[in-house]
Formats: sequence, C-alpha cells, structure tokens
Amino acid sequence: MMEKIMCPSMMCANFAALEKEVVALDQAGTDIFHLDFMDGQFVPNFAMGIQDLETIRKSTNKLVDVHLMIENPGRYVEKFAEMGVDIIYVHPESDPQITRTLDLIKNQQKKVGIAINPGTSVATIHELLPLVDYVMVMTVNPGFSGQKYLPFVDKKILELTALKADYAFKVMVDGAISPEKIEQLSKIGVDGFVLGTSALFNKDQSYEAILTELKK
Ligand code: DX5
Ligand code: ZN
Repeated sequence: MMEKIMCPSMMCANFAALEKEVVALDQAGTDIFHLDFMDGQFVPNFAMGIQDLETIRKSTNKLVDVHLMIENPGRYVEKFAEMGVDIIYVHPESDPQITRTLDLIKNQQKKVGIAINPGTSVATIHELLPLVDYVMVMTVNPGFSGQKYLPFVDKKILELTALKADYAFKVMVDGAISPEKIEQLSKIGVDGFVLGTSALFNKDQSYEAILTELKK
C-alpha cells in the first residue's frame, strides 16, 4: 500500500497560535501543509492571507501547497512561487488560459496541481492530465470547512484513479474527509488527503495520535 499523503488544511487551524500549530503538526507527521486562498469571487468566502503563508513557510521545512480558489490564478503564480510554496493548485474552472498557467507553475520549478469542483467532469480536464503532478478532487463545494461529503463525486474519483496508470499524477481529495473516508478511498487508489475538521482539527486527541492512526 502506497504511503498516504496527509495534508492538514490550515484554514482550520487555531490562528491565535499559528506558529505553534505548524510546529506541532510538523512534528506529528504532516506531509504537506494545505493552504486555501480565496477571493470571494470564485468561491463565496475568504480564507488564508499572505501573512499566514509567511508564518507557515518560515515555521516548517515540510512541503507547503497553496489551493488557489481565485479567478485568473495565473496572475499570482510567480508571487506564491517566490514565497517558497512547493505545490500550486489552480482550478481549470477559474482560468480560460489554464494550460498557460500550468506552464507558468512549471517554469517556476514548482509542482503543478489542478483542483476540480464537484460539477467538473474528468472529460473536461483530460488534456491536462499529462501536464500535472496532482489532481485534487473537491469532495465538497469549495470554500468552507465543516461541510458534508458529496457522494456523487466517488464515481469521478474512480475514473481518475483508473487513469493514474497512464500518467504521472497523484489523486488527492479535499473536503469533509473523515477517517472512514480515508480508509475507503485509500483502497481505491487515492494518494493524498486534505484533513480539516472532519479528521484532524478540534478533536480531543493530539495531532500526533490522530496522524499516526490515519497513516495506518
Ligand atoms: C474546503 C477546504 C478544506 C476542507 C476542510 O474548501 O479546502 O479546508 O474542506 O476540511 P473539512 O471539510 O473536514 O472541515
Ligand atoms: Zn483546499
């Protein structure tokens, strides 16, 4: 069984002690810190700020990704790359020049990710599969933590895990990912999990206990 990639969703962290949270999550076995950026346009919400990325970036040597839920994300690829992120996820739904944007990310020597909304089919992103390192499937309507998993997305996840063999991308899921979902989705080939309030935050166990358990 491939090592599961655990990605704490930092919008769910305790912002009164962000640096402490990062250090604790780093030591607890985090693989990738997941940072949601929102513009109130592509999604009806706002999440992390640039200062939060600065704090997180300087508090850990683990990988840091940014999930850009913003219109025309190509405008900010260079900025996020210069701030030291390792992976940049953009939404094809938010970018008429998506293949140009993926090229921009690659040219910054960053790993390339696309995140696709629940209503976006595999057929519409087929041409992007050879161009990306990660395909992140939104399993909730993007923008908010604490929502319900959308079961109709399971069919799409199966389609993508079946396509992995022909390309080099990993399949990630983001939204309402519970321990039970990690168990179920790992079995069908999902590589990585964004962990928010459903699995990791606001629990009475330590981050270490939870992540150790989830990785089993
Ligand atoms: C969804 C966000 C994630 C995630 C949070 O837009 O990208 O932060 O949903 O985790 P949950 O859904 O478990 O609270
Ligand atoms: Zn996200």
